[in-house]
Amino acid sequence: MCLMFAFGRGVPSPDLIDAAGLAHATRRALADDSDGMFGYGFPGGHPPLREWVAERHGVDASRVMITPGAMQAVALALETLIGTGSGSELLVDRPTYDMALRAVAARGVTVRQLDLGARWPGPVPAAERRCVYAVPTFRNPDGATMPLPERERLLEQAASGRVVVIEDDPYRELRFSGSPLPSFRRLGGLDRVVHVSSFSKTVCPGLRVGYVITDARRIGLLTAAANRTYLTPSMFAQAVAHHYVVGEPGGPGGLDRAVERMRTALAARADRLCGLLRDRLPQAAFTRPEGGYFLWLRLPEPVTAADVVRAARRRDVDVAAGTGFFLTGGEQYLRLCFAAEPQERMAEGVDRLAAAVEDAAAGATSQQGPC
Ligand SMILES: Cc1ncc(COP(=O)(O)O)c(C=O)c1O
Repeated sequence: MCLMFAFGRGVPSPDLIDAAGLAHATRRALADDSDGMFGYGFPGGHPPLREWVAERHGVDASRVMITPGAMQAVALALETLIGTGSGSELLVDRPTYDMALRAVAARGVTVRQLDLGARWPGPVPAAERRCVYAVPTFRNPDGATMPLPERERLLEQAASGRVVVIEDDPYRELRFSGSPLPSFRRLGGLDRVVHVSSFSKTVCPGLRVGYVITDARRIGLLTAAANRTYLTPSMFAQAVAHHYVVGEPGGPGGLDRAVERMRTALAARADRLCGLLRDRLPQAAFTRPEGGYFLWLRLPEPVTAADVVRAARRRDVDVAAGTGFFLTGGEQYLRLCFAAEPQERMAEGVDRLAAAVEDAAAGATSQQGPC
């Protein structure tokens, strides 16, 4: 058993995974699907899962590609849309998903971090290609959701500048309050948007199954890039995922049931975490999340995230520093994931975190000197 209090990584705790349902889906896949799951299969993914995703999203299967997770889909989209080198420019939100920042840093393209829902500045003079990466719903790291007028403005600007938008949307179904908003894909159409999602946050990250929905020409480019990168994704994992998401009437599995279970547990954990923070860390500020996995905590000055992360580690608490989600800045923020700890462990985790903030504050005060 891991003693660390896990508020750091965006993963569900093991008790939120439907292990019995996955075991059943694996047995059924092995019995029904073995022709399709033992070989290399297809770079675009296991055909039955591709069909299932297409039907769920109301598109043709030629618009869908199944990938080994959403992050791999984002990496392939970056490769095909902006390539490498200073001739390309990527606009990202402020803050944004740290792994996307890392993936793009390796490409040597110009990255600009800004409020994507506001008016964009002109392209950098050398940029021949411009592209946008956004997590518009329950954003990683701060849980924010882009309001409808900003979504519309973003897509208008994308259309007038002939810019393609990568919409990374793995948290959309995990809303526990407020009203759902249409995705970029619904508002902007498949020729302008590369929609990426995943079963990692709803079913299980260990499956490594995600998908892309975009126009057929771009699916062709992405599939070719996938084939030269990893030959094909795991047909085994995708066959299991397919049997799981379809489920059985009156039996185990089914994506809708998995989403409902996850959503109910996340709502309860988010509430518990908010209550504990208000009680035990009143000097820190946050907005109650309406869905997703994350709560974004603003630390009281002069305490910095780096100091709290270090102090928290000494107290066996893992939290993520805000700085990872910005090109510059973020020193005042911590990202807390409320999916990875059962409610009964949260009080002790937050007590330890509050003590770590005090440790960091004591260190910061002793370094300040007389004024
Ligand atoms: C916005 C976002 N995109 C992608 C991923 C990775 O998803 P996957 O496990 O499907 O690769 C995450 C995981 O934290 C995420 O928050």
